[in-house]
Amino acid sequence: MSRKLVFATQNKYKTQEVSAILKGAYEVLNLLDIGCTTDIPETASSFAGNASLKSKYVAENFGLDCFADDSGLEVKALKGEPGIYSARYAGGGGDQANLELVLKKMNGVTDRRARFVTVISLLMNGQEYFFEGRVNGTLREEPSGTAGFGYDPIFQPDGYSVTFAEMSGEEKNAISHRGLAMKQLIAFLNSEII
Ligand code: IMP
Repeated sequence: MSRKLVFATQNKYKTQEVSAILKGAYEVLNLLDIGCTTDIPETASSFAGNASLKSKYVAENFGLDCFADDSGLEVKALKGEPGIYSARYAGGGGDQANLELVLKKMNGVTDRRARFVTVISLLMNGQEYFFEGRVNGTLREEPSGTAGFGYDPIFQPDGYSVTFAEMSGEEKNAISHRGLAMKQLIAFLNSEII
């Protein structure tokens, strides 16, 4: 019988993706599957802290093993901003407003280095494990491409001449911060059941 594991997200696409990979070994449930409709506060000062708040909330309130992720864009010349504020950098105006604010702050800045970071917190049998994925790149001066979301149209990963928004989902997942962190989590989970 497969073991229940909650992915603390409301995004059913993210859940389906992980669920397909862990099929047989784990039954992956998302927040809606377990009846958790609370907007879990992300009040910590780091990606790891926020991921941890989410996984702990589920473990404490639902008594289930759980993992949660938190991601964002860090721009070197902006001293790591938008960082943990990536989703609400422009104060709630959404993806387009956030991206425009970064471009405005980077106007005329020549050091355009940036990176995406994902941290996953896994709470299993009362113990916490962290997995981290990073991808380095540079910021374009103008958005390019329509795929993906968030800051994808202005982020060009190192070694590529296109932005994340000009890649297929598969291409992006193979090198992205989230893809790399997920790969580590999955390798760990698969090794746990052998
Ligand atoms: P989350 O923690 O995965 O929900 O990411 C928080 C925010 O970081 C998102 O709302 C985006 O603004 C930004 N972000 C995270 N991952 C990506 C990505 O792969 N592409 C573009 N933006 C991202």
